[in-house]
Order: sequence, then structure tokens, then C-alpha cells
Amino acid sequence: MTSYTSMGMLALAAMQLVTGAVADLKTCPSSSPLSCQASSQASCCFNSPGGALLQTQFWDTDPATGPSDSWTIHGLWPDNCDGTYESSCDSSRAYTNITDILKAQGRDDLLSYMQQYWVDINGDDESFWAHEWGKHGTCINTIDPDCYSDYSPQQEVGDFFQKVVDLFKGLDTYKALSDAGIKPSSSKTYSRSDIEAALSKLHGAEAYIGCKSGKLNQVWYFFNVRGNAIDGKYQATRPLSDSSCPKSGIKYVAKSGN
Ligand SMILES: *[C@@H]1O[C@H](CO)[C@@H](O)[C@H](O)[C@H]1NC(C)=O
Repeated sequence: MTSYTSMGMLALAAMQLVTGAVADLKTCPSSSPLSCQASSQASCCFNSPGGALLQTQFWDTDPATGPSDSWTIHGLWPDNCDGTYESSCDSSRAYTNITDILKAQGRDDLLSYMQQYWVDINGDDESFWAHEWGKHGTCINTIDPDCYSDYSPQQEVGDFFQKVVDLFKGLDTYKALSDAGIKPSSSKTYSRSDIEAALSKLHGAEAYIGCKSGKLNQVWYFFNVRGNAIDGKYQATRPLSDSSCPKSGIKYVAKSGN
């Protein structure tokens, strides 16, 4: 009995590896059009109107959040390919119990990662996650419940948070800057072009950088997607917004010692 069960589970795991598909989200053809770049109708395989997906990150220093050698997650935002965006698209799915949802789906590793890297500046992670899901996640049309072939409630919520974390893990802003000699400092300042060059190298396209009072505090990585937002193919693309940082003299303050 036991061995049959584990063989079955192995077979299932192997199948998921082969297809790369997330259980129950309808599979999209690899020839699906690229979001923002085609004039197709919105569908479960075409992100629209929110065809640009932004993986957004924070560098919070006052108070400092997250590890001192890592940026933290802000979210994943659908943008209408032009700098405008829809928000809070489905109040019936604006869940406030994100922790319970992730636990009920057995996503404990995801949850503990989020507790470290997706942290609220005021310490209220649960509200921050609920806000990001309700305001932005519900507007990603390719993860609507009817895009699942065997939908179980809140499945898309777990898929959303997992996808944001996966994208974030592939975009290590701290390391990309550090590798280019751009390190937190209380005395040094940096030019916008040097920061942008380091992040272009990481992303494969320019990234948006944001500043507050001349201090670097945000990065947004823009993507277009072929297929759905979970297992579709993400393609880096250039920002739809202009940087709020000065051309030179940008401060990159350390998280400690404020
Ligand atoms: C989360 O909240 C929703 C809406 O209130 C509810 O339907 C669902 O059962 C809750 N999920 C868990 C795992 O508690």
C-alpha cells in the first residue's frame, strides 16, 4: 500500500515537472500572444487590460524592514500597458485571511518566506498582503476563478503569492547593485545611470527606480507575459513610468544605523 501511494505521488510530481503546469489552471498554448504587444481579446491566456505586470520592491530604511542585505517585496501589479492601472477589481474576492488561506493550501514554506521578505513597514503583514491581493491581484484577469478547470476557492490567491515570490527570487536587486559596486553607504552617492545599468543587467530591460528625498527606496521590474500570469512566459520590458530619482547624488542608505 505504502509503496503504491508513494509511487503515485512520485508520478504526479514527475508529471508536474514535465508540464510545468500549476494544477488546475487551464493550460495555454505556447503560441499565446504576448501581452501589451498584441491586440487580442482578454482571455485566460492573454493578460488584458492589465498586460504589463510589475514586480515591485522596497528598500525601507526608516524603519528598516527585512534582512539588511536584501530588498523586500511590494507586490505584482497589472498595468494597462500605458502607465494607468485598474485596482480593486473584485470585492467578493478581497480576502483578508491570507495567512489562513496559505496554511490551508499547505503553503507553509511560502508563508515563512513572506514573513521574512514581504514585510509591512508598520509590522502589519496580514493587512499589507490583503491590500496587495485585493487592490492588484484581483485585477489579473488570467487568474480569475473561471480560468481554472477544477477550481477550489482561493486557489488563485495561493498561486498569486507563490508567483510573486518566485519572480522576486529571480530579481535580487541588492546583489545586482552590490556586484556593480553600488552598496549602502552613509557617505557615498550614486548616479541614476549607474543604478539603472546595474539593474538592466539583472532584468534584461531597464527598470524603474524610485526615490524619496533623494534616497533610493523602490524598484519596479516590468514584464509582458505570454499565456497566464502563473505559468506563462514572462518577458522583461521597459518601464512605463519615469524615474522619480535625481540624475546624480542618489543616496542608498543602509538599513542599520539609522
Ligand atoms: C478565508 O475567508 C473567506 C471569506 O471570508 C472564507 O470563505 C474562507 O473559508 C477563508 N479561508 C480560510 C482557510 O479560513
